[in-house]
Amino acid sequence: MKEKLEQLLARGREEVNAASDEAALQQVRVGLLGKKGDLTAIMKGMGGLSPEERPVIGALANRVKQELEAAIDQRAAILRREAIAARLESERIDVSLPGRSGWRGSKHPITLVTEEVAEIFGSLGFGIAEGPEIEHDFYNFEALNIPKDHPARDMQDTFYIDNDQVLRTHTSPVQIRTMLACEPPVRVIAPGTVYRRDSDLTHSPMFHQVEGFLVDEHVTFGDLKGVLTNFISRFFGDGLKVRFRPSFFPFTEPSAEVDVECVICRGAGCRVCSQTGWLEILGCGMIDPEVFRSVKYDPEKYSGFAFGMGLERMAMLKYGVDDLRLFFENDVRFLRQFA
Ligand code: FA5
Ligand code: MG
Repeated sequence: MKEKLEQLLARGREEVNAASDEAALQQVRVGLLGKKGDLTAIMKGMGGLSPEERPVIGALANRVKQELEAAIDQRAAILRREAIAARLESERIDVSLPGRSGWRGSKHPITLVTEEVAEIFGSLGFGIAEGPEIEHDFYNFEALNIPKDHPARDMQDTFYIDNDQVLRTHTSPVQIRTMLACEPPVRVIAPGTVYRRDSDLTHSPMFHQVEGFLVDEHVTFGDLKGVLTNFISRFFGDGLKVRFRPSFFPFTEPSAEVDVECVICRGAGCRVCSQTGWLEILGCGMIDPEVFRSVKYDPEKYSGFAFGMGLERMAMLKYGVDDLRLFFENDVRFLRQFA
C-alpha cells in the first residue's frame, strides 16, 4: 500500500502540472481525491492491514493527500495568473492611438449656395422674405401681369392643384405678397422651392430660385446691372465671363437674362450648355407698371428692378457639376465632397 500511495503521489503531481486550465485541474482533483477517486480506492485496503501498519499508512495517506492538495492549489494559482495575463493581453487598449471619428454630415450644396447668396445680398442691404409653395393663381400669374389667356403661361409648364391653386412655378409671387404688405422702399430677396414639368441635364421638376427686388424712387436699369454684376463677381470670382441678354417677362420691362460662361467646357460648347458655351442663371428687369398697379404702388412715383435666379445652375457653375439631377439623387459619395 505504501508503494501504491507513493506512486499515486508521483502520478498525481504529473497530472496536476499537466492540467492546462482550471476546468482540467478540477477534473484531475476529482480523479485523485474525490469520493470515487484513486486515493479513496487505495484506502479501502486499510481493513486488511495489521494494527502496527495502520497508523503508518494512515499518516502516509494524509501526507499524500496534503501534498496533492498543495500541488493543486499551487497549480490553480498559476493557471489563474495565466488566465488574467491572457485576458489583459487580448483586451489591451492603446489609449494613445488617435480616435476613429464617425463621419459627419455636411450641408447640401444647394443650402451652401443659398446661404452664400443670402449673405452677399444681406451685405447689400437686402432682407429676406418668404412665401408659400402652394400658391394662388392670383399671386403666381394674375398680379404678375400674366392673365389667364396670356401665352406666357405656356412658357412654364405648371402643376395645377385645382382651378385656383398651383405649385408655384417661380418665386416671383413673393414680390406681390411683399409689396401688398409693405410700402416702398423695399429691398428683399426670397429664396425657395419652385416646380415645373421639366427634366433634363439642366432642368428639374423641383428646383430652387432666389427672387430679389428693390423698389424706391429713381431706381434705374443701371442700379439693376450694378447690383447683379457686383453679386456675380463676388459669388463666382472675376474669372468667368458674364453677359446680359435682352429677354421678355410679362412682369418686367425692359427684361434681360443673364448667362455665365459654361465652366464645364470653358465656353467652347458642350452638352451641358447645349453647345452654346453659356448657361443661363437668371431672369431680370425693371418691374412693369402693371405690377405696381396690382399692388397699389404709384408707378409715377416709384420704380424698381427684380430678378429671379436658378440656384442649381449657380451651384453647377460654382462647383463644376455637369448634371443638375445629381443634386437630388442623395448619393453620399457626391454629397461628401461638399463637407
Ligand atoms: C423666371 O422664373 C422669372 N420669374 C425670373 C424673373 C424674376 C424675371 C424677376 C424677371 C424678374 P425663368 O423661367 O427664366 O424666369 O427662370 C429663372 C431661372 O431659373 C433660370 O435662369 C434658370 O437658372 C432657372 N431654371 C428655370 N427652369 C429650371 C429648371 N427646370 N430646373 C432648374 N433651374 C431652372
Ligand atoms: Mg429663362
